[in-house]
Amino acid sequence: MPRRGSVKPVILTSNWTSFVIQTLLQALRERDPYTYGHCLRVARNARLLAQAAGLNEKEQYETETASLFHDLGKLGIPDSILLKPGRLTPHEEAVMRTHPVKSEEILRPLKDFSPFKLILPGIRSHHERIDGGGYPDGTQGEKIPLISRIILIADTFDAMTTNRPYRNALAYEIAYKELKQFSNRQFDAKLVEIFLKAHPKWGEMEEEITDEFVSVQYKKAA
Ligand SMILES: [Fe+2]
Repeated sequence: MPRRGSVKPVILTSNWTSFVIQTLLQALRERDPYTYGHCLRVARNARLLAQAAGLNEKEQYETETASLFHDLGKLGIPDSILLKPGRLTPHEEAVMRTHPVKSEEILRPLKDFSPFKLILPGIRSHHERIDGGGYPDGTQGEKIPLISRIILIADTFDAMTTNRPYRNALAYEIAYKELKQFSNRQFDAKLVEIFLKAHPKWGEMEEEITDEFVSVQYKKAA
């Protein structure tokens, strides 16, 4: 029997996981609908990339969950920066770059619960680059958690291929080229190769993102 008052890692039931996830995502949706939709699309593509890379079902689930929350810290970025339609100044860029650590901080109270226990480092490091030039810690190569290296590819691909107020979406072919060009600098080259082979199969999956989409993903994942 566990001692009274001791904090043991607890596996949330799939229902509770789903409630926590829905609540946090709802907060993000209220604050910034673009980031909400982005997180859902990244979660789907990151899970598919994890699957194509041979990760098991549990690892795919962890990758998907980390992806859903990778940008949650944007809740803590002022509107004047988060929703700015133009280019950010160096100061604003520095504020924006605090979001991975803010994501980790928001989720830290859940650190003793599965799957959050495992995914916090993956969330913190999702803007690290293979060459060590990323943030917040400048971690390099395989020292960057695998989940983060997967998220970065799905994240960048989605950012490039969706319309923003300050620029139109790039064509898929151009986005593929960018991923290749920055392999071994920004991205894990092996994962880019897997993504490029697998992604054309996902091109037909551009359905509209709805609440139902998340719960369906979660039913599949749980
Ligand atoms: Fe991010």
